[in-house]
Amino acid sequence: MKKQEATPARHVVVVGTQWGDEGKGKLVDWLTETATGVVRFQGGHNAGHTLVINGQKTALHLIPSGIMRAGVKCYIGNGVVLSVGKLLEEIQGLERAGVSVRDRLFISEACPLILPFHVTIDMAREAAKERSGGAKIGTTGRGIGPAYEDKIARRALRVQDLRHPERFAIKLKELLALHNHVLSTFLDGANIEWPDAVKPYLVDSQVSFDAVYQEAMAQAAELLPMVADVSKALNEAHAQGANLLFEGAQGTLLDIDHGTYPFVTSSNCVAGNAAAGAGVGPGLLHYVLGITKAYCTRVGGGPFPTELDWEVEGTPGWHMATVGAERGTTTGRSRRCGWFDAALLKRSAQVNGLSGLCITKLDVLDGLDELKLCIGYELDGERIDLLPMGADEIERCKPIYETLPGWQDTTVGATQMEQLPANALAYLRRIEEVTQVPVHMVSTSPDRDHTILLKHPYHAE
Ligand code: IMP
Repeated sequence: MKKQEATPARHVVVVGTQWGDEGKGKLVDWLTETATGVVRFQGGHNAGHTLVINGQKTALHLIPSGIMRAGVKCYIGNGVVLSVGKLLEEIQGLERAGVSVRDRLFISEACPLILPFHVTIDMAREAAKERSGGAKIGTTGRGIGPAYEDKIARRALRVQDLRHPERFAIKLKELLALHNHVLSTFLDGANIEWPDAVKPYLVDSQVSFDAVYQEAMAQAAELLPMVADVSKALNEAHAQGANLLFEGAQGTLLDIDHGTYPFVTSSNCVAGNAAAGAGVGPGLLHYVLGITKAYCTRVGGGPFPTELDWEVEGTPGWHMATVGAERGTTTGRSRRCGWFDAALLKRSAQVNGLSGLCITKLDVLDGLDELKLCIGYELDGERIDLLPMGADEIERCKPIYETLPGWQDTTVGATQMEQLPANALAYLRRIEEVTQVPVHMVSTSPDRDHTILLKHPYHAE
């Protein structure tokens, strides 16, 4: 086999090390000063990044954050599940804001499609769990899980099928027969209060072939000019010396294998999947940046060992939720908040092979009297220092904390370590010591320029 040849190009993977919402979008945007191509490799429009550029907020769900910088090419790799409707909506929104998209967005023809029946199945399943008194996953309701199920079952419709209307129609009929059967027999679809967005596709509580087919064909004409062989394009970009950035979505503890299963998303969020989900060799992943919030948050259900009561005014959890504006970009749900969990981060460091950390939202902790840092757990009478695998085990973990002094001075806008209060520095140093991963960057506000750089991911060895 021919080896991928060495070129001056360097490629960085950015992953969330907790449960998502660590602030990856800002860092990806910042790194596009050096990267000329940004690649999404997993997830779908369940992701959400809020970027603040020149004081203006922009939310992105599917299109890589690099789109906000003129000239940067953006790629959606085969590992992403694609809702064409949502993608086109996002493109139109960006165009209205004066951002050019279509000439520099490349979408893999191998992406499995998210179609309206995936959304109905996703919602109906959560509703069924609720009715039966079971624990809901708390999905984003975007059809992500059902779309990945079809992919793994080898029956998915993919972007490339949109080029062949007859082939598309045959596969769609087969898929609908299956999903409508599940909807009516197992999920009690007739008794669900469907949101308005889903209603146009339903006839007698069954998803209509005509509605799905007509819409997909109409969207295809707009999508197909952006469809490309992304694997080939990325390998060519590498050969030409372009620096690439692989932008992870969600977070490591939502990874289908390494997360708090079953309260996870349906894709691999870890760095290694950047290779498989984009179509490059693992040797091209040169540096892995772990984006890590200075505390922890989680949306949706599932265990969270260091969770605080974030609804009681005046408590540290409430402080994190309000000062950190902890609301989901995609669903608007409140995020659960808790202390920093270094034992969780150790797991994350292992499964991602982190090269360095970027600590975000440090400024949110300004003004707290003291901080707690979880350094391990007690599990069934034993002391462990690494997050165990799977929700049932994690549920039984009782955190073991160290207490550190807080700081009252502001860290907002700091661009040098020397500008940080001594206790903030000590907090960062302790995180490094316990997790054994160096802090290479610190983000001190949502603004692009409020960033402390210790080692540049594109220049670090
Ligand atoms: P799904 O990805 O919609 O299937 O949701 C599965 C779990 O992942 C739920 O707990 C969601 O809240 C969570 N999730 C999915 N995407 C994100 C994200 O971008 N940030 C944080 N949590 C997410």
